[in-house]
Amino acid sequence: MSTGSNGWPADIAIALVFLLLSAPAHAGSVQALLKAKDCLVCHDNGKDRIGPSFRHIAMSFAGFQNARFMLIDIIHTGTGPGSGDISYHWGSARMPPEDVRVPVDDAEAGKMVDYILGLK
Ligand code: HEC
Repeated sequence: MSTGSNGWPADIAIALVFLLLSAPAHAGSVQALLKAKDCLVCHDNGKDRIGPSFRHIAMSFAGFQNARFMLIDIIHTGTGPGSGDISYHWGSARMPPEDVRVPVDDAEAGKMVDYILGLK
């Protein structure tokens, strides 16, 4: 086993880099992200709660070409007054805008949407 300049055996260093690079694509890490950003306070993968279940969202957006773009926007703005002004609602509850939630950047929102849309 050869060691790199940082003292780690090269093959372990490579494995660690691979692990870091592959982590974002892993469903478990998106679930952790959803939890860290407080999404799971209102949403569940399979059960409608305060917000619609992620599976219901995936089903209702299946086939929409703009789904990814629209949902990233909603994750930032929420659905209340002054938000992106969506023309439909799931029920009487509104999703609060980002400035009163844990903020999410575009890359994180994209990961979340890919995960949600994959739940069908
Ligand atoms: C305080 C509760 C609450 C939190 C926290 C919350 N949501 Fe929501 N979310 C809702 C509600 C309620 C709706 C339905 C809004 C409506 O119908 O107007 C919704 C709608 C959505 C939608 C869009 C559904 C559609 O059909 O347009 C997505 C996507 C979504 N939430 C994802 C998230 C993500 C990701 C997070 C975390 C960053 C999050 N939500 C945090 C309550 C919440």
